[in-house]
Amino acid sequence: MSPSSQQICILMQDYFTSDQQRIDHALAVAGYAEDLLRYIDADPDLTLAAAYLHDIGIHEAERKHGSSSGRFQEIEGPAIAERLLGHAGADQIFIDAVCQLVGKHHTPGGVDSPEFRILWDADALVNLADVLPGLGREKVKEILHRSMVTEAGYRKACKLFLPPMDSAVREDSI
Ligand SMILES: [Fe+2]
Repeated sequence: MSPSSQQICILMQDYFTSDQQRIDHALAVAGYAEDLLRYIDADPDLTLAAAYLHDIGIHEAERKHGSSSGRFQEIEGPAIAERLLGHAGADQIFIDAVCQLVGKHHTPGGVDSPEFRILWDADALVNLADVLPGLGREKVKEILHRSMVTEAGYRKACKLFLPPMDSAVREDSI
């Protein structure tokens, strides 16, 4: 048995308490993951659990290592995800699968699975919104090519970050 995505969303919010920025980020990543699940065959429960919990190690990374860098998040996140999911009654197979994604979410190609690729692109769609504004369109194209690992994620990124007339992607394609 695995807890519902809604339960995991609440666990994440309870854990982050007043850190609304982290909560909003996780909610946004989960939202894009849900979008991408419409186009990519993957386990929705696993994908959404990982989307909600992927950055769950960030506070411990800052506390223990003085850094929120991806490497420290990967080190600290799985134990917290395991504890939260265990308390919610998740079975060990589900916990292990979520923890594998949480523990690799900053490592390119970290897990060879559609759930990982959705998590990667959903996280990128949120994070790129902070770095792309103000860049030239050739630079944006180059970054999107380099960053996105699924076709659906790439198309979504083009729709979000490149004006539709020049993006070579039809508005209604995703
Ligand atoms: Fe993230």
